[in-house]
Amino acid sequence: MTQQRVLLIVGGGIAAYKSLELTRLLRRAGIAVRVILTSAGAQFVTPLSLSALSEDRVYSELFSLTDEAEMGHIQLSRSADLVVVAPATADLMAKAAQGLAGDLATTTLLATDKPVLMAPAMNVRMWEHPATRRNLATLRADGVSLVGPDEGAMACGEYGEGRMAEPQAILEAILKQLAGAGPLAGRHVLVTAGPTVEAIDPVRLLTNRSSGRQGFAIAGALAGLGARVTLVAGPVALPTPAGVDRVDVESARDMMAACRAALPADAAVCVAAVADWRPDEAFGVKLKKGRGGPPSITLVENPDILATLAAPSPDRPAVVVGFAAETNDVEAHAQSKLQRKGCDWIVANDVTEPGVMGGLENSVMIISRAGTERWARADKDAVARGLAQRIARDLT
Ligand code: CTP
Repeated sequence: MTQQRVLLIVGGGIAAYKSLELTRLLRRAGIAVRVILTSAGAQFVTPLSLSALSEDRVYSELFSLTDEAEMGHIQLSRSADLVVVAPATADLMAKAAQGLAGDLATTTLLATDKPVLMAPAMNVRMWEHPATRRNLATLRADGVSLVGPDEGAMACGEYGEGRMAEPQAILEAILKQLAGAGPLAGRHVLVTAGPTVEAIDPVRLLTNRSSGRQGFAIAGALAGLGARVTLVAGPVALPTPAGVDRVDVESARDMMAACRAALPADAAVCVAAVADWRPDEAFGVKLKKGRGGPPSITLVENPDILATLAAPSPDRPAVVVGFAAETNDVEAHAQSKLQRKGCDWIVANDVTEPGVMGGLENSVMIISRAGTERWARADKDAVARGLAQRIARDLT
């Protein structure tokens, strides 16, 4: 499966530190990143940091035999789906507007046949200077897109427009640009994530320990492959992944309704730890300690969202994926869940393994009618990228 690829040019501004976070976010979204670091940029961030985060070597020299032998500058300029300049300094923008090609970054900008997105970063006076305005108009006319800059306090102590957009906003802009290109472009995927909460009374509730991390990571990875993603989320303390439409819900019944409203979808991934039961009635006022001792609460079963989405119907997504969080006999339980729920595959994990439930890592098995695949333990982002690729494979 081909990954989406970004060529990131890091210019020489204090905002270059944000390009490290941008690189991390891009990799989390499953996007390959190749970095060109200008010599001014190297005054602010090191090639080593960018190389570690991009998991690739960093290019910087135009007249370097090793660089040219490995990948010539023309090939480099064509090697990505999108060229991103962040930070785009006043100097880089001026050179790009003039078509100068004195170093690897500017040569690449002149040689590329790919769309270019710039995230300007400079002092407010430089941003407002007529020369920058002229360059900006030229770049826009040349088809360059822009994200930011924001208004705010600057490293130089002044205040105004010129701060580089935040990495998350740049990622959003990148995903928008790439949306037409990924293997899931034009596809809609529904993801459920997090716990549900079931009210006992206005202050008490039944819930579980799900953090929502795995589901959120999957939603982000699917968006990274170009899908339109609807994430129906129970209450969790997580930021919405870039490029994802999020619908917040509380109870299982709310989650069911939000999922139905989101259909049709090409695929559905049910990661949520839906509460199996809810109190048969939620009291309208807080229950008081009375003389009769503790109240007894009768539980009734919640709708099964996965089984409903997987049931034969004209609206059934082509690929329906369930999760099975088990504490014992993982494979056997997951096999029976696959049959019972009618989904296409089950991602099973043993939640008694340390660091899985509520943690950052997962070790999963993929169970389908074709058999069982065991994946090596990995962080939830890597598992999410693998699952997103597998969904894309099933849909194409
Ligand atoms: N699921 C769902 N709606 C429910 C219960 C579960 O959509 N009401 C989905 C979960 O999102 C997950 C899968 O079903 O993808 C399995 O969830 P799990 O809680 O492990 O299964 P249960 O149906 O509760 O089965 P069991 O009680 O046997 O573990």
